[in-house]
Amino acid sequence: MCGIVGYVGGQEAREVLIDGLKRLEYRGYDSAGLALGSGKDLLIIKEVGKVEDLERMLQKVPAGYHQGIGHTRWATHGGVSQANAHPHKDGKGQFALVHNGIIENFSELREELERKGVVFLSETDTEAIVHLVATSFSRTGDILETLVYLQKRLRGTFALALMQQGLPDRIYTIRRGSPLVLGSGNGEAFCASDIPAFLPYTRRIQYPEEGDIAEISPGGIRIWDEKGRPVERSVVTVDWDVSMTEKSGFSHYMLKEIHEQGTVLRRSLKGRVVDGKTMISGELGWNVEMVSKWKKVHIVACGSSYYSALVAERLLEKWTDLEIKVDIASEYRYRHVACDPTTLAVFVSQSGETADTLAALRKARAAGAHCLAITNVRGSTLAREVHSVLLLKAGPEIGVAATKSFTGQLAALFLVALQLGSMRGILAPHEEERLVNELIRIPYKVELLLEKDGEIKEIARKYAQNKNMLFIGRGMSFPVAQEGALKLKEVSYIHAEALAAGEMKHGPIALLEPGVPVLAVIPKDSLYEKTLSNIQEIKARNASLIAVCTEGDRFVPEQAGSVIETPWTDEEFTPFLSVIPLQLLSFHIALILGREIDQPRNLAKSVTVE
Ligand code: G6P
Repeated sequence: MCGIVGYVGGQEAREVLIDGLKRLEYRGYDSAGLALGSGKDLLIIKEVGKVEDLERMLQKVPAGYHQGIGHTRWATHGGVSQANAHPHKDGKGQFALVHNGIIENFSELREELERKGVVFLSETDTEAIVHLVATSFSRTGDILETLVYLQKRLRGTFALALMQQGLPDRIYTIRRGSPLVLGSGNGEAFCASDIPAFLPYTRRIQYPEEGDIAEISPGGIRIWDEKGRPVERSVVTVDWDVSMTEKSGFSHYMLKEIHEQGTVLRRSLKGRVVDGKTMISGELGWNVEMVSKWKKVHIVACGSSYYSALVAERLLEKWTDLEIKVDIASEYRYRHVACDPTTLAVFVSQSGETADTLAALRKARAAGAHCLAITNVRGSTLAREVHSVLLLKAGPEIGVAATKSFTGQLAALFLVALQLGSMRGILAPHEEERLVNELIRIPYKVELLLEKDGEIKEIARKYAQNKNMLFIGRGMSFPVAQEGALKLKEVSYIHAEALAAGEMKHGPIALLEPGVPVLAVIPKDSLYEKTLSNIQEIKARNASLIAVCTEGDRFVPEQAGSVIETPWTDEEFTPFLSVIPLQLLSFHIALILGREIDQPRNLAKSVTVE
């Protein structure tokens, strides 16, 4: 989705902005642009293509611009063209504006402005905003009043950054429904869609609330609410450092992030399990009385986060007496679900900004549910709108395909399930202790498995040219198969489908033919023998088989053309291990096929529009 960055201070603005835009590339985009201000002029440079193309165009621009806003555009209203790229300006070239989000009443606004003689140069919804700013400012001569008026006129979601000619040390922002963070340094200030954009310069962050207007200047940041009343928003120092946003010797972010998973899991568990007990109730603000009132758990998410939720569903069924429902956010938000004050509603989102997940949260909250966010981003919209938050400790995830955030979510959901089970008295203390003791061994087992990278690379060579692949698994391994198929689709563009192994014979088995390999996730668990018979059915039809199984398995290797063995663990923990080879396999297949692994076509890391 679109990325925004803004800067005012002593440095050359274009350098800070290009650096920031590169750090936002992971969000996905098709064009890029920036506006630079020097006090005398307001320059706009934008083009279809990569930030590097924009950087080349900027070489001709002289130094001396210390104010600027930049944008990476992911087309929604209007095709991919130079005219539709941001920033947009008003007719007199007095204001420049960048926007992330969607203005729902833009046709109405455009008609109104055109009736007044305004000429539009693009097909975007954004251009209507900048004309609205200019017409209102010409009436009032007051920027704050203009921005308050703007909020009344705009429907939809937006994060905006605005600059005005002749005002070289100010940038104005508004945030409603789309992500925006503000950063302050020494004699300089920043705004951006996401923290990594300005992480090399400052870690002092402010999160504007819904409707907040901000003025960022070298002297500091001033914030007003949507009615124009001054408000204070606390300054948070984030514990991410810039090395976390770099590739650190790896060829791709995805590969780096896959290899970080042992560390991520260790960080996620630290201080949250002590002496065989789960200790997150304090962090969540839960007490036994509260937890005993709940009858249902709804878990809602999108993409990989949804698959981690499906794993949690199986754990909660085992360890609690609650009624569990897991749904995709874009479905949940429109269904007639029975959600009420006896519901614990859990929202899983790496970014904490996914539009559908936020809409689902608002629906559950309005119905009186207790809402919990499992997210990687402190201060994200999701984190701010729920009653309780459990943060992943994954650090920034830059690769579009989720990897370390998936295993981080598994760990967080594990802790939630254990905590609920023990607080409700369903999970016996000795059982909790056994589970916790294995949980803390998982990071080490993940690291052992990561040593098989070379072996998996060889397997990737055998399968990279296939056009289709099926993934199967049962029980805890079904969501893993689903996540594996999603990873392959996302980064290699090979068609992949995941099936509950028992469903194969109800239709999909008809797909089996040479060139359609089947990847079976078959750890040694209670359903092992069932999956083994499904494998035999597949072999009987001469399909080639890749198996992810447990070390020491004697039967599966006899059936499979390629085998990846994972260390032994208890059934509940197998997803942590089985998913690793699937991530690596997708990565290596995509590499062989020459795909843009960290930024796959058409995808965005954070989907902030419906
Ligand atoms: C996008 C990303 C996926 C991600 C999904 C949910 O589609 O490309 O990788 O799983 O959004 O994102 P969230 O931030 O809510 O976990």
